[in-house]
Amino acid sequence: MRRPRILSGVQPSGKLHLGNYFGAIRQHIALQEEGECFFFIADLHALTTIQDRAVLSENVRAVALDYLALGLDAEQTAFFRQSDIPEVTELAWILATVTGMGLLERAHSYKDKLARGVAASVGLFTYPVLMAADILLYRSNLVPVGQDQVQHIEMTRDMAGFFNQSYRKVFPLPEARLDRAPTVPGTDGKKMSKSYGNTIEIFAEGKALQSAVMRVVTDSTPVEAAKDPEKDNVFALYALFATEAEREALAARYRAGGLGYGDAKKMLIAKIDAHFAEAREKRRRLAADRTVVDAVLSRGADRARAVALDTMREVREATGLR
Ligand code: TRP
Repeated sequence: MRRPRILSGVQPSGKLHLGNYFGAIRQHIALQEEGECFFFIADLHALTTIQDRAVLSENVRAVALDYLALGLDAEQTAFFRQSDIPEVTELAWILATVTGMGLLERAHSYKDKLARGVAASVGLFTYPVLMAADILLYRSNLVPVGQDQVQHIEMTRDMAGFFNQSYRKVFPLPEARLDRAPTVPGTDGKKMSKSYGNTIEIFAEGKALQSAVMRVVTDSTPVEAAKDPEKDNVFALYALFATEAEREALAARYRAGGLGYGDAKKMLIAKIDAHFAEAREKRRRLAADRTVVDAVLSRGADRARAVALDTMREVREATGLR
């Protein structure tokens, strides 16, 4: 049996944080064993929010370094920049012509962004069409995403169906692969998210890591008093890194009293340091030579392009464009 093609995109929207790590990156890295992976940096999507060339290119490079340092294997996986394969915008246009307005108007993420006061560009509205094009251009079978993106995968299936019905069956219907991602609390206790400004960055270290962890809110239970681990953000973060035995041991110390939140924070910092020590070293090595990332992404683009051109040949043939 052919290994499934697994595709996912990550927006280069700034420094990646623990929420990204436990919610997506870790799964992406692990999936390299399960199928033929295509992972890309969604710089075209990022244009809906970033309009500064220096910021965009710096973010793309940073995300690439983060993924490579955390275990993306560029030999195994096609790792590329979305805009290196401009055919994706051509496919997005073609999909748009078979897609009703109503489908896009129902998109939660669009409605949420409007509600948060983001000015709606046409690009923001048609964002799901470009995302469908990403997925279908590479004829992906599985798309690992977080809960917030599941509707976009359903919309992709709809668009693939509209195309296949209008012309002929060119696209397999992709499936979302939802990992049971743990909830990662941010420093304020809400879900960790860049838009809430409550993140702890994966590659923060030293003083920067310390001050991020020190910001994690705790209640005002005095040091001597017993504490409920289930209600504490520091414990929740520690638990993500700890073994079951370590988790139980810390929970017991919380319940016994005598452990201050400051001490728990130090334990958390030690865990983060140990967990990412190797990745930090690797990231430093990779970052030292600016040509490395470019070479990796350009090789990834070559692999992606081969598949994309093949799909587009069929799409043009099916539609009568050429
Ligand atoms: N919209 C996704 C996000 O914000 C990123 C993305 C763009 C994507 N294209 C994709 C994810 C295709 C999966 C497949 O997280």
